[in-house]
Amino acid sequence: SEQYATEDIVELDYGNGTAAVVHLHGATVVSWKFQGEEILFCSKKAIFDNKKAIRGGIPLVFPQFGPWSLGPQHGFARIRRWKLVSTPMQDSRGNITAVFSLEDDKRTRELWDKKFELVYTVCLWKTSLELNLKVLNRDESSFEFTTLMHTYFTTPDVTKTSVIGLKDLQFIDKVQDGALMTENRGAVFVNENYDRVYQNAPNEIVVNKVGTGKTKVIIKKTNFPDVVVWNPWEEKAQGMADFDEKEYKTMLCVEVGSVFNQVTLGPGEQKEFSQIISVAPAE
Ligand code: BG6
Repeated sequence: SEQYATEDIVELDYGNGTAAVVHLHGATVVSWKFQGEEILFCSKKAIFDNKKAIRGGIPLVFPQFGPWSLGPQHGFARIRRWKLVSTPMQDSRGNITAVFSLEDDKRTRELWDKKFELVYTVCLWKTSLELNLKVLNRDESSFEFTTLMHTYFTTPDVTKTSVIGLKDLQFIDKVQDGALMTENRGAVFVNENYDRVYQNAPNEIVVNKVGTGKTKVIIKKTNFPDVVVWNPWEEKAQGMADFDEKEYKTMLCVEVGSVFNQVTLGPGEQKEFSQIISVAPAE
C-alpha cells in the first residue's frame, strides 16, 4: 500500500495475510487480500490525488449511476472524502468492522440540493467481505437516486473468468445504444468492450476464476436488483488516462446496484443496500 498516504487509508487486518484497505476518498475499498491473495483489481495508473475517482477497488456510486446532468458521472460519493466514524474493531469471533459516513455539504448541495447521510459499514470476515450502504433522507422532501458498488475484480486472464447467475435476464447493452436483450448463457464470458446492465438478477451471483485464477467469489446482494458487467477492452482502455492499456486483460467489473429504476426515499426514511463477497475454490 505504498501508493497511498497513511492519513488517507484505514486498514482492517484479520491476520494471516487477510486484510482490507479502505481509502477515505470515496470510502473506496482499494484492496482485499484473502490469505495473501489479492481479490480486487486496482490499476497501476490509478490516481490518488483525493480528487479523481479511484480506478479500481470498489468505488461507491451515488446518487446517480452513469452520466449525470447535475454533476460528474456516477455521482459524487466516490469523489468526496468520507469520515471514519468507527475505527476498525475486532469482535470475539475475529471479524473486523469499520464504519464511514458522508453527509451533504455545501459542495454536494450545489450539485444536488438534498440533505442526506450515507453510512457505509465494511466488515472483514475470514473468507468474506461484507459491505453495507445505508442511505438516509434528512431532507424535508422525498428524493430519488440510483446507487451501485462498482467492484473491480482482478484475474490473471479475463477470457477465462465468467459470471454465473445471469441466464434469462434482460439486459441493456450500453455499447449497442442501450438495446434491450436477453442473456442466454449460463456462464457469461467477456471477450470485447462490454458494458451491460442486467436487470432483476438473483441475489446470488458467482464470478469464477478471480484473484490468482484458482478462486471464485460468491456475491450475495440485498436491495440491489441489478448487476452491471463491464470491461472497456483494448481500444477504449487506450482512451483512459488512469488505466494501463493492457490491464483490460486482468480485470472484470461485476457491479451490484439499484440502477435500472430510481429509488425513492421520503423524508426521514432510510434504506440499506449490501453485498457479501465470499471466496471459495474456483469451479
Ligand atoms: C460502468 C459503466 O459501471 O462504469 C460504464 O456501466 C463506465 O459505462 C464504467 O464506463 C466506468 O466509469 P468511470 O466513470 O469510472 O470511467
